[in-house]
Amino acid sequence: MNSTYKNILILTGAGISAESGLSTFRSSNGLWNNHRVEDVASIEGFECNPALVHDFYNELKIEVAKAKPNAAHLAITKLQQEYPGQVSIATQNVDTLHEKAGNQNVYHIHGQINQAVCLNCGQVMETWGDVDTETTCPHCHIMGMMKPNIVFFGENLLCMDKVEELLRRCDLFISIGTSGVVYPAAGFVQTAKYYGADTIEFTLETTANNFLFDKHIYGKAGETFPPFVDELIKKAKKEA
Ligand code: OAD
Repeated sequence: MNSTYKNILILTGAGISAESGLSTFRSSNGLWNNHRVEDVASIEGFECNPALVHDFYNELKIEVAKAKPNAAHLAITKLQQEYPGQVSIATQNVDTLHEKAGNQNVYHIHGQINQAVCLNCGQVMETWGDVDTETTCPHCHIMGMMKPNIVFFGENLLCMDKVEELLRRCDLFISIGTSGVVYPAAGFVQTAKYYGADTIEFTLETTANNFLFDKHIYGKAGETFPPFVDELIKKAKKEA
């Protein structure tokens, strides 16, 4: 592996927020906060029972608003401030812990919990308050068409033009806390590798696309990622 990289891309998943008290998706009981992922994260689930889906995200929003970034999020801030290369983040997380930690260049490919999108006019609104089947769009003033701005199964990812450019350009691809089972994000490592990047993952357990990573660091990201960042910065300073 190199030691000084020009462009680092970090892909994050639910595992990076676990130490901040937010649930991951695929814990052993297969439920996400006591709901089947298909019921609360699919277009069919939303069409079938929009009130339940709104309630689910309204509750999650309260949890996310209270959560604090952990040592792994803060280590990314340090990397961005002290490493002599560009560091970008593509996150599958709908929480805002990267922003709370002061991370820059964050691309929310699965949307954000603090946003809703109008299915009538496409306007995105930001709110930490409740959104429900009676919410009126602030832009087109139609009621009952707001959907949580979360990318459900069956929808296109957000910010993909930018992320694809970053995947082609990066010389180090880091994955933190994602099981690698949900595509297209699970395929990012393959693209980065194809374009020549070194690849490394931080995870608790073996992931679905484990074989595509050059290196695996097992353990809690809040414990394993900060020393990795320190080492990367130290090596870069030595070479400068
Ligand atoms: P998962 O719940 O599938 O995977 C979480 C991963 O994080 C697992 O591989 C765990 O081993 C690892 N992990 C857990 N705690 C960790 C810790 N403290 N440190 C390091 N790793 C840890 O979550 P995602 O891969 O993010 O989509 O799930 C992908 C997508 O599936 C989500 O974005 C969501 C869901 O459907 C949408 O909501 C659109």
